[in-house]
Amino acid sequence: MRGSATPGGTPPPNPPGTHSGMWFGGDYNPEQWDAAVWAQDDVLMREASVNTATVGVFSWALLEPAEGRFEFGWLDAVLDRLHANGVRVILATPTASPPPWFTLAYPDAMPVTRDGTRLWHGSRDTYCAAAPSYRRAALRIAGELARRYAGHPALAMWHVHNEYGTRCWCDHAAAGFRRWLRARYGDGDHGLAALNEAWGTAFWSQRYSAWEQILPPLATQYLPNPGQDLDFRRFWSDELLAAFTQQRDVLRQNSPGIPVTTNFMGPDHLVVDAWSWAREVDVVAVDHYLSSAGPRGLADIAFCADWARSVGGGRPWLLMEQAPSVVIENGLMVHREPGRMLRDSLGYVARGADSVLFFQWRASRSGAEMYHPALVPHAGPDTRIFAEAAELGAVLRRLAGVAGSVVTADAAVLVDTDSRWALESRGLPSPHVRHLDVARAAHAALWRSGIGCDIAAPDADLSRYRLVVVPAVYLLTDAAAATLRRYTDGGGHLVVTFCSGIADESHRIRIGGYPGALRDILGIRAEEFHPLPPGTTARLSAATPTGAHGNLWTERLRAEGAEILARYADGVLAGLPAITRHCYGTGTAWYLSTLPDDDALDALLLEAASAAGVRPALPGAPPGVCVTRRHGNGARSWLFAVNHSDRAATLPAVGVDLITGREVTGTLELPPHGVAVIRDA
Ligand code: GLA
Repeated sequence: MRGSATPGGTPPPNPPGTHSGMWFGGDYNPEQWDAAVWAQDDVLMREASVNTATVGVFSWALLEPAEGRFEFGWLDAVLDRLHANGVRVILATPTASPPPWFTLAYPDAMPVTRDGTRLWHGSRDTYCAAAPSYRRAALRIAGELARRYAGHPALAMWHVHNEYGTRCWCDHAAAGFRRWLRARYGDGDHGLAALNEAWGTAFWSQRYSAWEQILPPLATQYLPNPGQDLDFRRFWSDELLAAFTQQRDVLRQNSPGIPVTTNFMGPDHLVVDAWSWAREVDVVAVDHYLSSAGPRGLADIAFCADWARSVGGGRPWLLMEQAPSVVIENGLMVHREPGRMLRDSLGYVARGADSVLFFQWRASRSGAEMYHPALVPHAGPDTRIFAEAAELGAVLRRLAGVAGSVVTADAAVLVDTDSRWALESRGLPSPHVRHLDVARAAHAALWRSGIGCDIAAPDADLSRYRLVVVPAVYLLTDAAAATLRRYTDGGGHLVVTFCSGIADESHRIRIGGYPGALRDILGIRAEEFHPLPPGTTARLSAATPTGAHGNLWTERLRAEGAEILARYADGVLAGLPAITRHCYGTGTAWYLSTLPDDDALDALLLEAASAAGVRPALPGAPPGVCVTRRHGNGARSWLFAVNHSDRAATLPAVGVDLITGREVTGTLELPPHGVAVIRDA
């Protein structure tokens, strides 16, 4: 388990300068265009109320055309022009795409895949973050930029690199891995013995007798060692983080007072541990690209936004990138229906985002992403997409006062990086169980019921939550298990799913019956796993809605003190417990040994929520209408209502609708697909 920022309580204030109004705009790559287009950009940005541009993300080759020779004139002109047009700049360090001269000078800094293939330039992201020559070159360009633009009036924030997430298995990575392992397990024979124990190297003749024998998990003959794989993932996240913090520190030294961030790739991204990274940025910034244009996409917006807010300790965060209109579904570019740009964007803002930024401002006419959607599409500004962008910009101007306000929740779903990584191992009972899928299912069930939800790490202080869901948190440290025990003992309501608490922090099984870390809290003991093949389900008996089924996983479970709420209805497990509830201390702990269908999961979590005294943001809100609230200083708050259904809806509300400017005196009428942001009177 990785360290966590702690959501809950009153979030600390944002660093000065990170939030002022709603930031609207996106990646701006003017180096692809000429002066006539720039002039049109200025006009269109004003027309669309754009106030923020992310600049220079991939500009290394133009900024440093030869090693040590810098050309900043063109970037000076871009920043001056944007400033004159009232647009603030998030200035990137361009280190995600070293120029071709770098490859030829430092071929050892090119990344190597697990099977030993070296990758070359011709795309982007071709570098190994552990290569000293790469780190030196990255620091040099970051330092030059910081010194040049420290006092520029357009500069609002630094954006280090882009989407840290590349991996490498080269010799530099191997050397770094061994250093990291020595720091973790201790140097010398004692440390090596601890590593051998943690990785279980007594099996398959893997015992290491010298540090030099240890390699990254390269391509090998059969199943790799799970402990080695987990530690390499931990090491690599830390290595990338060190690359980030080095640049951050150079920027801070040379341009004091300017906040520094980097764009995280959203909750699905598997390479870095967002909990430990979030502590190192001045404000959390997240890119989010939907993979479904349908209802799954809507739930995903809520999940991503709750995650982004939570990894940052509950503070407002920046939506750094999203796609304006298109979702890539199985390789196809699928348009979201008209109106979704506003509705989807408000979905993030309602859950704590203080910006709506896109990739990118103007669609490219060449290059690898020439078909990527943009606020100004190939067809130009006389288009639906640009009209929707201008409408969104106008709305966000009216929401300026919302910036800096916070969202609070009484329920939390745990998300744990180590569990995600460990469940990626081969040789587990089912390759289909993914921690984040189960977390997402639990979050979506609460979302469908209108219950506000944080995301928390298992070692966070959970005491402020009334309901905590533990979704396939496969790996639990002793300390995290103790936190969950204390939480429940003290009156908390805990819902635990299958595949939680099975392994310790080195990915060794906790023996004596599953789930070893949580048996006592749950009052159960499982002795066999029966994972379900894809496309099959297990029928459940009473206490779940008629016809409910379990998915993904089942197990041979016995109650040891727990009350049985539902049993398996057929097959070898017929009659055995499937879902249980146990009183532990002054709290209650539910156990789901399978993943119930949506309806049954909704009903179960709603029942747990009501037992915990957790209520929806607006009890009785009509189905399909998402309601959330942001709280400002004092008693001020804003109610966000987004109607995703094609039926009109009415809700109780009093205040001023900032979207229409109308006063609402008791009942808010929301048209089909309508949105409202009610500032309390
Ligand atoms: C990422 C990158 C951008 C761009 C978009 C396209 O988020 O940061 O540079 O490639 O994806 O979706």
